[in-house]
Formats: sequence, C-alpha cells, structure tokens
Amino acid sequence: MDHEMHYFHLKKRRSFLLFIFMCITLKTALCFNISSTSTLTFAEAYSPLFSKFNIQRSSDDKTVNLILNRFSGSGIISSDYYNYGFFSASIKMPSEYTAGIVVAFYTSNVDTFEKNHDELDIEFLGNVKGKAWRFQTNMYGKGSVSRGREERYRMWFDPTKDSHRYSILWTPKNTIFYVDNIPIREVIRHEAMKGDYPSKPMSIYATIWDASSWATNGGKQKVNYRFEPFVTEFKDLVLEGCIVDPTDQLLSTNCTDQIDQLIAKDYSTITSEGRRSMKWFRERYMYYSYCYDNIRYPVPPPECVIVPSEREMFKTSGRLRNKMKFGGSHRRHRRSRDARRRISKGDN
Ligand SMILES: *[C@@H]1O[C@H](CO)[C@@H](O)[C@H](O)[C@H]1NC(C)=O
Ligand SMILES: *[C@@H]1O[C@H](CO)[C@@H](O)[C@H](O)[C@H]1NC(C)=O
Repeated sequence: MDHEMHYFHLKKRRSFLLFIFMCITLKTALCFNISSTSTLTFAEAYSPLFSKFNIQRSSDDKTVNLILNRFSGSGIISSDYYNYGFFSASIKMPSEYTAGIVVAFYTSNVDTFEKNHDELDIEFLGNVKGKAWRFQTNMYGKGSVSRGREERYRMWFDPTKDSHRYSILWTPKNTIFYVDNIPIREVIRHEAMKGDYPSKPMSIYATIWDASSWATNGGKQKVNYRFEPFVTEFKDLVLEGCIVDPTDQLLSTNCTDQIDQLIAKDYSTITSEGRRSMKWFRERYMYYSYCYDNIRYPVPPPECVIVPSEREMFKTSGRLRNKMKFGGSHRRHRRSRDARRRISKGDN
C-alpha cells in the first residue's frame, strides 16, 4: 500500500513536471494560449517617449530595440490610454555586464495624474557579469507610493539568451502578471484596498535607464559604460483593452462591454493548471514579498493571501529563511556558494 502511494506520488510529480515543462518550453495552450492574441507593429501601438535617437525599429516595424548608452537611456509609450486591458511583449535583456541597469515594462498615468497616479510594474534589474538578472512586480493606486507592494523573483531561464513574453492583465476584478504562459502573481481586488487598486486609464511604457543608485546590490554596482551600448529587444507587441481619450477624465467612453469581454478571456482567469504552475514558480523563484514583510507591514495589506507554503519560506523581514534556496537559477552550476550568499544579502 505504502509502496503504491509512493509510486502514485512519484507519478503525479512526474506528470506535473512534464506539465510545467510543456507550459514553459512548448508554449502550448495548457496554461492559456497566448499566441492567439494578435501582435501589433510599433507604429500601431507605441510612440517614442524619450531619446528617439536610441530607439531602433526593425524594417517590418514589429521589433524595437531600446538602447542605453553614455548619452541616454530610451523609452516608448503606448499611443493610447487604456481603461483596463491586457498588455504584453516579448523582451530580451542585454547581456554581459549590466549592473545598474533597469529595463521596465509598466503601465502608469503619472502624466495625467501627477499626485494620485496608478501604476503596475514589471522591472528587470541588471547584474554584474556572471550573475543573473532578477525582476520585481509592483502596484500603486491613487498615488499610494508610500505603500509599495513589491515582490521580487529570480527566473528559471537566462533572459539574455532568448526573448520571453511578459504580460500584465488588468481588470476591475484582478491583476495578473505573466511570464510566458505562467501566471506568477495575482492581486485580487479587495474592497479594503480602496484607491490603492489602479482604476484610472493608463498608458503602457517600456524603458531602459541608468538606475546606478539602487538597481544592483543597493547601488554598490553602477552602470559601466565600457560595455555600452546596452540593447533590449521588444517584440510580439500586444495591447488589448478599452481605448479612451487621455484627456477624458470624466470617462465618457463606455467601456462596459469591452471590460466584460476582457474578463471573459482565458488569460483573465487562472485555471487549476495555472494555479499549479504559479505555486511552482513562487515556491522556487520568489525571494521577497511585501505580504510576508511583517517589519514593514505588521498587518499585511488587505489583498494579501497568506499561503502557508510561502509563509514558511520567509522570515518576518520578508527575506528568505533558507538562503540556500537562492541557488537553482540557470547559472546554478557555475555560481559559488559565496556568490549566492552575496546576491541574496545585497539585494533590497
Ligand atoms: C493557439 O492559437 C493560435 C492562433 O489562434 C493557433 O494557431 C494555435 O493552434 C493555438 N494553439 C493551441 C495549442 O491551441
Ligand atoms: C454602457 O453600456 C452598457 C451596455 O452596452 C449599458 O448597459 C450601460 O447603461 C452603459 N452605461 C452608460 C453610462 O452609458
């Protein structure tokens, strides 16, 4: 009997790993079929935001390179404002020495609402040569900049080798961050969040910039322009949602039907398979969450769902209890134990 149970668990485990493998590498519709969304050209979706001279578009206008060099970073902004939507791009990070660099893919309305803006972030943090990129997600609503909702993660792949799809789903009910087809974080809107949940139309931004003062090891490693230019590639551009006029602060555009359609899409609901892959990701690759940082938030913010298996990973500081867990990235085999320790220490 015991033997059989053991075998059953092994089998279950094996089929789960196979499932994760298929989700990640084959990009099948098991998690959800992201390739069924249609991609846009740069001109259809975006406009230059700053340093046009550091923005390179491919001849078919489907790929855009954003460059950081000693003169400037660069950035693009969606040509429209969206009142909820699904925003996605395949992104490839610059390689070699990238300490101090931040590549960001995010939504914001800070241009229109300077004092009470909303924001959803995916920010990639560069690193010294030989050490892995990391990334973080965050959410602000109605200028809640004093109440950060950061989570930080490692990746299960090398983001400088190939491009991977990063997506932000934003509905009135929930926000989901995806990496490829895996939902890595869901924030379900909780009434007690009040304005902290983004609810005004936002633009979509992609930028590369010099964040020497904080991005790597708390600012100890700065951008080294001997390695310029730093190039990040964006393609497979997807912007779906209800387009509204940026000056339309009274929201006279009726988005009811389009929001209903958005909520009905497969990417707006996490399937049980999606939940399993989310759990897989978070237990292996998340190394900070504001929900478990009891020094910063003695009472976790209302939307936090305390997952026991996640809770036990973290100390009350929100840092990983078991630093060794920090190993296991794509560079695991080459990285020494000391280097690992340094990364996990030097980080927030
Ligand atoms: C995903 O959608 C694309 C485009 O609609 C389609 O060609 C493809 O067959 C779908 N893949 C799966 C596994 O359903
Ligand atoms: C918006 O459209 C929906 C469905 O088409 C309709 O039921 C609703 O009354 C409209 N709202 C406004 C404010 O016009």
